[in-house]
Amino acid sequence: MPTYSSVITGTGHHLPKRVIANSYFEDKLDTSDEWIITRTGIKQRYFADHEETTSTLGIEAAKKAISDSGVALSDIDLILVATSTPDLTFPSVATQIQAGLGIEKGCAFDIQAVCAGFVFAVANANALIKAGEATKALVIGTETFSRILDQKDRSTCILFGDGAGAIVLEKTEVVDDGKQAGILATDLNSNGRYRELLYVDGGVSSTQTTGYLRMQGREVFRHAVNKLVSSSERVMNKANLDTIDWAVPHQANFRIIQQTSQRLNLDKDKVILTLDKLGNTSAASIPISLSITNQEGKFKPGDIILSHAIGGGFCWGSFVFRWQ
Ligand code: ACO
Repeated sequence: MPTYSSVITGTGHHLPKRVIANSYFEDKLDTSDEWIITRTGIKQRYFADHEETTSTLGIEAAKKAISDSGVALSDIDLILVATSTPDLTFPSVATQIQAGLGIEKGCAFDIQAVCAGFVFAVANANALIKAGEATKALVIGTETFSRILDQKDRSTCILFGDGAGAIVLEKTEVVDDGKQAGILATDLNSNGRYRELLYVDGGVSSTQTTGYLRMQGREVFRHAVNKLVSSSERVMNKANLDTIDWAVPHQANFRIIQQTSQRLNLDKDKVILTLDKLGNTSAASIPISLSITNQEGKFKPGDIILSHAIGGGFCWGSFVFRWQ
């Protein structure tokens, strides 16, 4: 009896038109380009204009991933979108992207695990494919965090940016040759008692407003490193791996990535960094980084790649896969 897994066959990303350099904040707040670069590694980010929304960015990223994979649009039977910044309270961004692509079959829904959303979406798409519920999935991370930033709060508004990334995940039969391409293991975790460290102070059922992001940065930092390290160790154990070729981490802060990589004994040349140009794009950061790295031709067949992320909740996790 054959068993199945899923393999990444295409990647794509799309960024808003408007680039926001650190100097944008220097003009408005008591901050500096030097502080932002030294404490975060971020030099610029993109902010969506009015006509650009979470779903329009996601549609463009999805089109590029589909084109990269060579899959026919009519064969996509699952769309999972990781986002915390939907266009509307409902319907989901996933159904809006489905409509934008002209797809009318299969199912489409959103997943909300903040910055860890893409990791949760990949794990869920992989599980649905393994269970026989889907064969060709679009997994998208797309965000417009600029819409929930308090532009007067220098400790948060400098960190985030907008953008979208997408992958195509296709069903593949598992062969027991030690070279199986595709998702090898996933690890998901949540603990709601940390809500006060990272949250948005508004919402449909509480304030009937969108609210602004609030964060105790230093505390989030401390939890981030410990939780990303332990999740990565667990996922590597599950996949029976002790080395990787690339890490494509969530891009929150250069120092978080550096400390996590050091504790995992990762060579810094193997750790993909995009946050200098993009800031923290929340659920979009891993798929954008995968797409940029793929475009640059860095991934080679057989490469083992690790991704991990943590976000509000807290929710955190990781996945490890072999490039085909
Ligand atoms: N410019 C200048 N000074 C600033 C700025 C700024 N933009 N922001 C804060 N400061 C000041 C603070 O007020 C503080 O001043 P004080 O000492 O007089 O009180 C000082 O800088 C140090 O502040 P810290 O918060 O201790 O600075 P830290 O080195 O921790 O850096 C940062 C702050 C960048 C937010 C960091 O803590 C961080 O990256 N945390 C993690 C964020 C994260 O990973 N989020 C991921 C999840 S996101 C999601 O799920 C949506």
